[in-house]
Amino acid sequence: MDPQSMGRGWPPLPLFLPFGGGGDTVKPAMDRMPVDGAAVPAGPPVEDPSTPFRLSQEARSLNRSLMRRLIAVTARPEIISFAGGLPAPELLPVEELSVCLARVLADDGPRALQYGPPLPALQEEIAAMMAGRGAGVSPEQVFITSGCQQGLQIAAHLLLDPDSAVVLDRFIFPGVRQAFGGWWRELREVPTDVTLGLDLEMLAAALTGPPRPRALVVVPAFHNPLGTTLAPAARQTVVELAGAAGVPIVEDDPYSGLQFAGPVPVPLVGLAPGQTLYLGSFSKLVAPALRLGWIIAPVALEEKLRVIKESFDLETSGLVQRAAAAFLRAGYLEPHLARVRVAYGQRLRCMTAALARHFPPGTRWSEPAGGMFLWVELPEGLDTLALLAPAIEAGVAYIPGAAFTGAGPTSAMRLNFSNATPESIETGVRILGGMLREQHSGATNRGG
Ligand SMILES: Cc1ncc(COP(=O)(O)O)c(C=O)c1O
Repeated sequence: MDPQSMGRGWPPLPLFLPFGGGGDTVKPAMDRMPVDGAAVPAGPPVEDPSTPFRLSQEARSLNRSLMRRLIAVTARPEIISFAGGLPAPELLPVEELSVCLARVLADDGPRALQYGPPLPALQEEIAAMMAGRGAGVSPEQVFITSGCQQGLQIAAHLLLDPDSAVVLDRFIFPGVRQAFGGWWRELREVPTDVTLGLDLEMLAAALTGPPRPRALVVVPAFHNPLGTTLAPAARQTVVELAGAAGVPIVEDDPYSGLQFAGPVPVPLVGLAPGQTLYLGSFSKLVAPALRLGWIIAPVALEEKLRVIKESFDLETSGLVQRAAAAFLRAGYLEPHLARVRVAYGQRLRCMTAALARHFPPGTRWSEPAGGMFLWVELPEGLDTLALLAPAIEAGVAYIPGAAFTGAGPTSAMRLNFSNATPESIETGVRILGGMLREQHSGATNRGG
């Protein structure tokens, strides 16, 4: 199959001049997700007459992702939310973080509140954590970021030109499209299997098709939205294929550490340190509001990473870095993760049992061994986008599959199982299941 045509749900687009010059053909990109959640074809962004400001083409082409919009809706206490990637609120380590913040302010207040360079103590703790995951890295290779999303932005700025091609999963966290996409880029999508993860044959074709991609983005563990984890042999193949094609890997790995069934395989950066930028985060492991993450990169790239990051936010909060280092040094992380893993494993089991009871026959779901998400594929003909508004009206939120792909509507949905209690999971799945069964029997009757 022609790798250039993979993942292209849309007809060819008109030619236009990028940045008013050059005369190159701009590749169709499929990273537009308007607020109603349906993907739209790429094309030159139009002027918005409602604003007195003349906006950049980039700003005009941006649309708020359905997912971010839903997070506001689902903050309403009456909603059972399976939508966001939110940790269980009752398990957030509030006490431990209070102790750490108080200690940092008492012992090192003025420096913690000042501008300052990355914190060596935190770099050392993260290097030790990476060793525990099977990737031996030196503290100098640890580059501190303000969350994994910033890691994605920095990686995109480091690796991509305006007309570059990027290889990624067909279904992927929208923040990856936001960081790597844009109407001027080619997002070359590879199909993903709900049980195995990336389709390796299609990946090989996508990596070698012209033009040579400038990055391969992989979410190897407890994938968002699919919940899949790449097995050790698949990881080895990914690394070999990318190495042979000369394509750097961006390993987006915020969920390792949340395993509740068996160990997580060695990260790609442990297999191919010279060709991988690894992105980690404390958002899911400790608390999203820390806005703290890291990149593992060859030391030679440190200077460039630093300049790019400085243009975004100068530096990551010294107070937060110190509090996180104190949290790790005090040994709070492992007991906290142990509690979280047990709870998330229970919630997943509770959700799959409820799905089996309440969802229409023919429904399939992924079997994550960790993380926060379950991918549910409904029988053909069911429309998860159309069901969303009535579901929210009935008090339950989820993310329709269309929010994760440029290829248009799907009959799939992503369910988060970490944020709701087991009782709410049962209630929410029962409500959703009732609505879906009704839609399903209507579709079946129409079909018959
Ligand atoms: C795959 C993936 N990458 C990156 C991020 C962003 O993480 P952070 O909160 O650390 O910015 C998320 C958040 O949900 C994610 O799911």
